Amino acid sequence: MGTKKNIKPAGGKLGVLMPGMGAVATTFIAGVEAVRQGISKPIGSLTQMGTIRLGKRTDDNVPKIKDFIPLADLNDIEFGGWDVFEDNAYEAAMKAGVIEKDLLNQIRGPLEAIKPMTAVFDKQYVKKLDGPNVKKGKNWMELADQVREDIRTFKEKKGCDRLVMVWCGSTEIYLQPSEVHQTVKAFEEGLRNNDPAIAPSMVYAYAALQERVPYANGAPNLSLDTPALVELAREMRVPICGKDFKTGQTLMKTILAPGFKARMLGLDGWFSTNILGNRDGEVLDDPESFKSKEVSKLGVLESILQPKKNPDLYGDLYHKVRINYYPPRRDNKEGWDNIDIFGWLGYPMQIKVDFLCRDSILAAPIVLDLALFLDFAARADMHGIQEWLSFYFKSPQAAPGLYPEHDLFIQSMKLKNTLRWTMGEDLITHLGQEYYD
Ligand SMILES: NC(=O)c1ccc[n+]([C@@H]2O[C@H](COP(=O)([O-])OP(=O)(O)OC[C@H]3O[C@@H](n4cnc5c(N)ncnc54)[C@H](O)[C@@H]3O)[C@@H](O)[C@H]2O)c1
Repeated sequence: MGTKKNIKPAGGKLGVLMPGMGAVATTFIAGVEAVRQGISKPIGSLTQMGTIRLGKRTDDNVPKIKDFIPLADLNDIEFGGWDVFEDNAYEAAMKAGVIEKDLLNQIRGPLEAIKPMTAVFDKQYVKKLDGPNVKKGKNWMELADQVREDIRTFKEKKGCDRLVMVWCGSTEIYLQPSEVHQTVKAFEEGLRNNDPAIAPSMVYAYAALQERVPYANGAPNLSLDTPALVELAREMRVPICGKDFKTGQTLMKTILAPGFKARMLGLDGWFSTNILGNRDGEVLDDPESFKSKEVSKLGVLESILQPKKNPDLYGDLYHKVRINYYPPRRDNKEGWDNIDIFGWLGYPMQIKVDFLCRDSILAAPIVLDLALFLDFAARADMHGIQEWLSFYFKSPQAAPGLYPEHDLFIQSMKLKNTLRWTMGEDLITHLGQEYYD
């Protein structure tokens, strides 16, 4: 047994703040409300339904995760956020069309009470979007100060003890870390000088960190995946994680690819195409936003298959990802994968995956888990990048120079071992020699 970390209790209210109150955010809020009212079950959420084995297999000690570590109770969550549209959470959920009207009408009151604060927004960073609910300020720093003020006001008005922030906003255009992202000092100068390499999502992230609010990035844009903001997170002792919720097609990829690799099956090609018709799909129809998503989706296979270490199997892999905006599909995306594999003596085979998924239904429990786990991490004084939460991301943030772990099963083991480690329990290696000694 190790030493249990000193973890503050989870009492009091937890505020979950979301920049971007569209399909994912409102599906998350409505879902939590439905669970609270006993109308639905929190399917897909590890914090609510997951279990964790402790000790030996013969001990039969498998508590629920929420009974093993101190997590905030669903009844103690307050929701808030920002959006460029003025719709309250009920109206936004109706427009998103993910959850049936009957269910939304049963929880209408609490949803209507959630109104978005004015957003930090600039059309230059999300070309296909524009709306009226936007802050004014003479530079990024002034806007960051306004967000900090929003955070403090929300905390006080709702009587929250603690806050977390999860970026559920649209995917911004592709930016690479540049000079201004290297140090906190350079970044703050950039905020004052309105540097174009700073995007709105970075302004929220900066404001959150300054207010010591843990931050998770659900989209593929950089947000706080830069040396400057990682440095700030460490300085402020705030836990952070990102990027890009791992939901439909990439979830499937990180389930299948580790299997092929484990059995030494080769891969010639993996063609992935998607059609979706929600606002996210419309935003991703812009090549610059798509580029952020493409980079995030493409990194996965290379990291799992390690073609340089396995050139005979994966050296010539052709990997292509397409996303097409097709309005009739709304939030119900269809993702097709054609996978060309080869086996013994190089004989080719094909696998076809046709995933008729519901994007926001898959993303909502991830928002919940990230909010609760980040709050737990903060109470355990874990700060900086939380790699154990890479389980939830397409493009996990990792230490500089360290390649991220994409294999869903390694990620799951890492997550559970981190929980055991914080609670001073033995880590599980699956060696199992003791059963045969
Ligand atoms: N649903 C999934 O499966 C999934 C998976 C991975 C990543 N994501 C990402 O999650 C994000 C949200 O997805 P969604 O389906 O809810 O999209 P959405 O278009 O329904 O919602 C995004 C909301 O963000 C708002 N917004 C954009 N810029 C903003 C800003 N600067 N400040 C405040 N609000 C802003 C938009 O007005 C919109 O209401 C997207 O970036 C998407 O790529 C979704």
